[in-house]
Amino acid sequence: MATLASGHTASALEGDELAKLLENFPNYKDGLIRLSPDGWVFTKAFCKFADKLYNFEFREGDVLVMTWPKCGTTWTQEIVWTMRNNPDLNNPEADVAIMDRVPFMEGDMFSPPEDPSGENSMPLSETFKKLCPNANPRDGVCLQMAQATPDPRTLKTHLPFSLFAAPVLDKVKVVYVARNPKDTVLSYLHHHRLFKAQSFVGSLEAFVDYFLEDDLIYGPYWLHLKEAWQRRDHPNLHFVFYEDLKADITGELKKLDAFLGTGLSGDQLANVAKHTSFGEMKSRNNLFINKDIFKHEEVVDQEVLKRDGGFFRQGKSGDWKAKLTPELIEKMDKWINEKCDFGISFK
Ligand code: PPS
Repeated sequence: MATLASGHTASALEGDELAKLLENFPNYKDGLIRLSPDGWVFTKAFCKFADKLYNFEFREGDVLVMTWPKCGTTWTQEIVWTMRNNPDLNNPEADVAIMDRVPFMEGDMFSPPEDPSGENSMPLSETFKKLCPNANPRDGVCLQMAQATPDPRTLKTHLPFSLFAAPVLDKVKVVYVARNPKDTVLSYLHHHRLFKAQSFVGSLEAFVDYFLEDDLIYGPYWLHLKEAWQRRDHPNLHFVFYEDLKADITGELKKLDAFLGTGLSGDQLANVAKHTSFGEMKSRNNLFINKDIFKHEEVVDQEVLKRDGGFFRQGKSGDWKAKLTPELIEKMDKWINEKCDFGISFK
């Protein structure tokens, strides 16, 4: 058990709780932790970085893209970075991997550099070597890159507000993206089947149960949303729905332009919309998926890749209507009615 700077206590999942996960996630044998209170679920390696993340030194002018997983993070990272750095689509840095342009703050918990087998170690990017020439990768590749990224800095996190020290919104503009949980769970299922580090071997029904019981990595979906929703009137928070980005990208880009203060012209906004469309981002797939990871057959389930697609799977809203059974829809509706008591509603 460890006490974190955020005030949470981290405990390893054990006994029946761990056994229930291992049934369908054989690769979680190294164990997971759950924070108390709140129930956030992470890999054990999170504890090593938790306090540094909590006390992360944000700078005036930073933009943080914050989401629960699979809610449109990568899309929003590319939108925000392009608006701030490449509105005329002539910046050669746009060809650099997104992880190097918009660091994933807590990403080190998924590929701890100290992994003795080396199998899960994150390959060191040229950007890391350039930005952090004297850094020890064991102190966190993603974290140190996040620290060293020059202004204007855009960052990504799936952590909730409560795992950062309170003044985060005083300094940083946060773009929070929410997505209908029925589409989110399908996208997260695909993610867990595709990547062998997760290697989910169970059924859709079992996966939905883990999601509803807050047992998946990152844990409570509604609490994450609620923490952001409660702050939605803060001038430094821009709350956006994936469904609205899909329905009216031009309108949403205008709102983002006003929020970020980027002052883009109509032509520049059109550039951003085109450059960040699903089709164009999918055609630049290797910038969004770690090339070294995708290259290794053993890291991605090739069957799932062939059958259900890669990271850019569908990019739709409402796909759940075709994929969830009536029983699962009923179960999720009941859960939504119980948990969603703070005024948010999805289209
Ligand atoms: S992650 O791994 O948590 O960071 O995933 P995240 O980026 O949040 O979510 C991945 C889903 O977003 C879809 N996506 C897009 N949709 C529309 N337009 C664009 N440009 C776009 N880029 C990514 C991606 O396809 C995943 O959704 P699904 O439903 O699985 O297709």
